[in-house]
Amino acid sequence: MKVLLIGAGGREHALAWALAASPLLSELYCAPGNAGIAEVATCVALDVTDHAAVIAFCREHGIGFVVIGPEAPLVAGLADDLGRAGIKHFGPSAAAARLEGSKGFTKDLCRDLGIPTAAYGRFSNREAALAYLATQPVPIVVKADGLAAGKGVVVATNRAEAEAAVEACFSGAFGNAGAEVVIEEFMEGEEASFFALSDGVAALALATAQDHKRVGEGDTGPNTGGMGAYSPAPAMTLALIERTMREIIRPTITGMAARGCPFKGVLYAGLMLTADGPKLIEYNVRFGDPETQVLMVRMKSDLLAALLAVADGVLSTFDVRWHDDPALTVVVATRGYPGSYAKGSEIRGLERAGALDGVEVFHAGTRRDGARLLADGGRVLAVTARARSIADAQALAYLAVDAIDWPEGFCRRDIGWRAVGRDER
Ligand code: AMP
Ligand code: GLY
Repeated sequence: MKVLLIGAGGREHALAWALAASPLLSELYCAPGNAGIAEVATCVALDVTDHAAVIAFCREHGIGFVVIGPEAPLVAGLADDLGRAGIKHFGPSAAAARLEGSKGFTKDLCRDLGIPTAAYGRFSNREAALAYLATQPVPIVVKADGLAAGKGVVVATNRAEAEAAVEACFSGAFGNAGAEVVIEEFMEGEEASFFALSDGVAALALATAQDHKRVGEGDTGPNTGGMGAYSPAPAMTLALIERTMREIIRPTITGMAARGCPFKGVLYAGLMLTADGPKLIEYNVRFGDPETQVLMVRMKSDLLAALLAVADGVLSTFDVRWHDDPALTVVVATRGYPGSYAKGSEIRGLERAGALDGVEVFHAGTRRDGARLLADGGRVLAVTARARSIADAQALAYLAVDAIDWPEGFCRRDIGWRAVGRDER
């Protein structure tokens, strides 16, 4: 089977790496891809916002299956258009992608179905939002409703900060994404990422992970796309996994089907493990980045077969096997990220890093200039290791990081601190 993967990040390199190992695969294409993905796939310079061009490419090259990595094409309805063209694909419809594309939609769904989440209000004008704020305790959380590239959320510790966040949304700081605002209760606890596949009816729990969103050590400083991750999340016991499936994931799948927009794809639940049990922070309708990097090196089963089971609606007969060994990934970013940074510095030594037993170096933002490998983004590499313990995986990942010669890059040196600390107790 010929497969086209959509995306260009570390998540897509990890997906491409796993897809390339499938006995079902004959040829892998990726649009647009990156220098790492080019080692396992043919990268094509397709404009993925041009759905007709994607469909034409699929027809021309006999693509049997399209795997959509990021949220933007899903929210834009690429899955719907592929479906109308009769092209098999992995990823939810635009209507189902509202679970990520509209925080208000998800909050209303949770309310209607009794899914545990933070109490909230939903507002489309600033006066009503400010009036509601005045009645609520702080800390409080203000969110732009739509996709804001991870920047639309403010956890406000005082009222002035919360009001400023509301003003920012309604003054257009997040464009259309901020035309509506969700204000929600601050939840306390440890966060975990939970992944489940669904074919619209059945739901299959994948693995758990935790990521580090802040740029600085000790989880401080501005938010990023994610500076590292590990899997499994030690806090997610079997009992908590079952509870999450029962109270959060399955009701969502059933509720979406009942609303006429069945969810077919991977549902990524951001969870807060509160004293009252797991509560939903938010949904994403795609794999996490960098969580996918650790999930893929732990997955024993054929990823392509699993994604096809979702598309074919036969997930209830499917199972996915995992390596017990934990995995950890360290993101190496360009100095300056998540603020402004320069592109084009040269990276050396990746072969040395990747040659270490148990290490995979996934590319998040790279390109080739002849034989030279150049940084081409904020998050540039995800150096991933699997080992007997989380402490060993951490040590191995940093051994690999240190084999890389890239003075313009930086990483956090404490990825996995919480899990390693727990291991040692
Ligand atoms: P989100 O983009 O919705 O995942 O939010 C980004 C981050 O903000 C989350 O990973 C949490 O750390 C934090 N956050 C969002 N909503 C809440 C909430 N209701 N209570 C506490 N923290 C939150
Ligand atoms: N790791 C966070 C995300 O993928 O949204």
